[in-house]
This record gives sequence, structure tokens and C-alpha cells, in this order.
Amino acid sequence: KKPTIAVIGSSSMDLVVSSDKRPQAGETVLGKAFDTVPGGKGANQAVAAARLGADVYMIGCVGEDTYGEEITANLKNNGVHTDYVEPVTHERSGTAHIILAEGDNSIVVVKGANDHVTPQYIEKAEELLKNSDLVMIQQEVPEETVVHAAELCSRYGVPLLLNPAPARPVPEEVLAQVSYITPNEHEAEVLFGGPALSEALKVHQNKLFITEGAAGVRWHNGREEVLVPSFPVQAVDTTGAGDTFNAAFAVAVAEGKGMEESLRFANRAASLSVTGFGAQGGMPSREAVEEGLKP
Ligand code: RIB
Ligand code: NA
Repeated sequence: KKPTIAVIGSSSMDLVVSSDKRPQAGETVLGKAFDTVPGGKGANQAVAAARLGADVYMIGCVGEDTYGEEITANLKNNGVHTDYVEPVTHERSGTAHIILAEGDNSIVVVKGANDHVTPQYIEKAEELLKNSDLVMIQQEVPEETVVHAAELCSRYGVPLLLNPAPARPVPEEVLAQVSYITPNEHEAEVLFGGPALSEALKVHQNKLFITEGAAGVRWHNGREEVLVPSFPVQAVDTTGAGDTFNAAFAVAVAEGKGMEESLRFANRAASLSVTGFGAQGGMPSREAVEEGLKP
């Protein structure tokens, strides 16, 4: 049976400039191309999970603008249920202003309607959350919402995966209540402090998964610290790789796969995602990931 996954989070339009050079402060450079593509960490995770075969519900807000309509249509086109995606009056959709240059991205996020994904707002979806196999959340929504989601999920015994991106300290009680937390190296430093990372992995064994990009993902399985290596690929655009990793991990875990297998599945999906332009561009189908995992 398909697992039911609810994603609480942001949905935005990504405004992407491709350029050979990233401008310094005060500098102007000529870019190569401009594209608008759907993004936002929440929506990205929802789309990735749907492509991997889960039954996915997005809980989010869009603006009262054309981006909002495009964002919602895109979710639907990818098979994501949008019953809990609402336009907010007099508000603009979230936007992410991305510069793709010198083989990497830099991003400014303007949250817009995503700030309306409040504790009260997610309560409208309480029944859905209660009946989900797993819930996902990230940090492009207010901190109170993350706190409330953690409370609700722990009350109902539903596993919650917190992707603590962008970086922001996570309250102790949230850390205690979540089932999985997946910072990248920078976010892990903000959460646990650099030198203490090995200690944090041990304390939060089977819960804390530190993603190290092209290197893979680090965790502690109760006996030892392990690095599950990622798959080498030629990257076109790494935007959304983390979202694909989180979604694939969530789908695998919700299906009852073991930790090691789920992490390999997630690494494979993430590595495929970077081969296409845009956050959702390379996000793979279930078949593509399974094909990619064959020896
Ligand atoms: O994780 C990638 C996403 O982060 C992009 O789609 C962009 O919206 C930013 O918020
Ligand atoms: Na991509």
C-alpha cells in the first residue's frame, strides 16, 4: 500500500539567474539566462515524494497572484493533493531569488505567504496529520509551526521528519519529539556546534542524519558512526537535492524499509535530481531510482 505523507511547508516560485560569474557587492555582471520554476522546500519535498510513489498532501499557503496559481497547478500536475493549499488575501507568493554561478547556487528567500503557515493554519489539517504514515516539515515556515507540528505528531504517534533548513536553532523539545532530523553540515553546526558533531550523532542515534552533499550522509546506528556514500554524478543544478533526499528517505521509511536501505534509496534519488535544471527538474520517478540502484 502507498504510504500517506503530509508535507507542512513552503511553496514558492524560484526566480533563477544563470551567470558565469557571481557579482560582488557593488558589482554588476551580465547573466546568461533567467527562468521561473516552481520551488520552495515544502513543495519540492511534496513533489519528490509523489514522484516516488507516495500519496502526498501539501499543507501550505500561496499568494493571491499568478505565481500562486502556477505553484498550485504544478503541485496538482505532480499528483500532490492541494486541499490544504490556500491563497492568502493581499499577500504575495513566496519567492526564492537564486543565482546559479561558478558551479553553485546562492539564494535569497522572501517568505511572503509562507509566513501564514501558522500553528492555527495547520490545525485545519489535524485529522490528516493524525492519519498520515509520516509528516515532513522544514524551516521556511514560522518556528511556532515547527513546534506545534512536533507536538501534534508526538501526541498522535506519527513520525515527523524535520529538515532544519534554512539553518535556525531547533528548540530542545522539538529535537526530543521528532523522529528524524536531517541537517546539512552548516545546519548541523548551527544546531549542535562544530566539534561536538560526533557526540551529537551518538546522542541522537537513529534520528540525526547529517547530509554531506557529494560525500553522502552520516549517522550513528547504535553501534557505530557510519557514512553512507552518495552516488557520483555530473551535476547540472544542485538546487533541491536536499529536498529530494528528504522526500526519498521519508517514502522509504514510511514503507517500512530499514535505515541503511532507506539512506541508499535517498542518496540515489538525490544524485539523480541534480542532473536536471531547477529544484524539481531532475527529481526522479520510482522506476528511475530503482533502476539506478541495480548493481
Ligand atoms: O531547497 C531548495 C529550495 O530552497 C528552492 O527551491 C528555493 O525555493 C529555496 O527556498
Ligand atoms: Na535539479
